[in-house]
Amino acid sequence: MSLSIIILAAGKGSRMKSAIPKIMHPLAGKALLEHVIDTAQGLAPQSIAVVCGNGAEQVLPLLDTHAITSVMQPEQLGTGHAVMQAESVFADSEQVLVLYGDVPLTQLTTLTALLSCGNTQSLRILTTQLDDPTGYGRIVRNDKGNVVCITEQKDADEATLAIQEVNSGIMVLPAKWLKQSLAKLSNNNAQGEYYLTDMVALAVADGLAINTVCCDDNAEVAGVNTRQQLAALERHYQQLQANTLMENGVTLADPSRIDVRGTLVTGTDITLDINIIIEGNVTIADNVRIGANCIIKDSIIGKGSIILPNSMIDSSQVGENVNIGPFARLRPGTVLADNAKIGNFVETKNANIGEGSKVNHLSYIGDTEMGKNVNIGAGTITCNYDGANKHRTTIGDNVFIGSDSQLVAPVTVAAGATIGAGTTLRKDAPELALTLTKSVQKTIEGWARPTKIKK
Ligand code: UD1
Ligand code: MG
Repeated sequence: MSLSIIILAAGKGSRMKSAIPKIMHPLAGKALLEHVIDTAQGLAPQSIAVVCGNGAEQVLPLLDTHAITSVMQPEQLGTGHAVMQAESVFADSEQVLVLYGDVPLTQLTTLTALLSCGNTQSLRILTTQLDDPTGYGRIVRNDKGNVVCITEQKDADEATLAIQEVNSGIMVLPAKWLKQSLAKLSNNNAQGEYYLTDMVALAVADGLAINTVCCDDNAEVAGVNTRQQLAALERHYQQLQANTLMENGVTLADPSRIDVRGTLVTGTDITLDINIIIEGNVTIADNVRIGANCIIKDSIIGKGSIILPNSMIDSSQVGENVNIGPFARLRPGTVLADNAKIGNFVETKNANIGEGSKVNHLSYIGDTEMGKNVNIGAGTITCNYDGANKHRTTIGDNVFIGSDSQLVAPVTVAAGATIGAGTTLRKDAPELALTLTKSVQKTIEGWARPTKIKK
């Protein structure tokens, strides 16, 4: 049963009032269209084609990254006209599934159910029941309950407007029949458009069976037309993510205050405080505790680690029983071994911090190789950049660096070395010795503080 999928995405989305095409607006960190593409790919079809029009230049790079065919619809003359543009793509398949680029949350299981009802020669429609069906095409049935046509809001009379079963827009059609019948569509309707929905009446006339699957969850078939609808779907999606996390053994201080914009893999007995944002691919192991207002992107957090409030972790690996924050910033390439500690107002980047090592306060550690059980005093800076190139700092096991020191890279502090407070280290420090840059302390007797001049 070969399947082609056509995603309609040429519309303007004028109600978004945006220079970005509607389908490129993100939901949970991913373009609306990308949600649809991912779901479509889940069905392993023979081909996927996206019908592009408005803002195509912004859409094509996304299609390239997914190796998906685009077809152009320079003028948007209706959903039927959009499908006509994709004819060559679905010509040699058996059935065609039509999806909308602005309906992001349809589940794979729902589409599978739609595809498996009826047979490949029937026309299948995903419908839903709405309390307020305004704006949608109505599913019109005869007194036997069989679908006879879909009537658009603008073409409907009073009785039809009262129908609450609506067309989601998602449809499966036999490919060969579709190809022959598209030519019969006319634009003789209230909007002067070629409606794909008119295929239903044509199918009835041709004696095709019409099957419907009614989707209980309105969010799965909800389209985004306004920023309000986008925000509502985002909240719905986040609520689903929160539910899944809790079902998997994660405690959330407030399920309405977590945002997962990507994929979060969790162990059990994890506690997440409020306003945590997860981006990209994040893994959090058992017994991790994360405080309020943390942002974690593309990182792995090991068992039992504690991340205190207002910390940011990006593209980093955190070992087991590590303590981070509050107000820590782990930039890409940070690797913290087990039992390490990164305290407040510490920034790290491209740094390996060894087991049990501590960078407790107000430091910048970049391009650094650090051994075990190192203690970095407050205000220590690795001066990794000479204005043109980046250089590495190497710190051996059991090193102690006094507060307010600058390590001017490239430089090595050998194992067991102690660096005196306030040192500017420009040459390597030998092992097991005290190295410091001495500045002589002096006292000026009888010196008076300046006083404010009276005006
Ligand atoms: C359409 C359906 C309606 C259904 C509703 C569900 C038709 C005629 N009507 O109405 O029955 O209840 O969706 O949301 O099909 N598009 C193109 N090219 C075009 C026109 C549209 O690519 O020329 C795309 C849009 O970008 C959008 C989708 O098709 O992704 C639907 O178009 P839209 O104008 O929103 O259709 P509706 O009037 O909402
Ligand atoms: Mg619409």
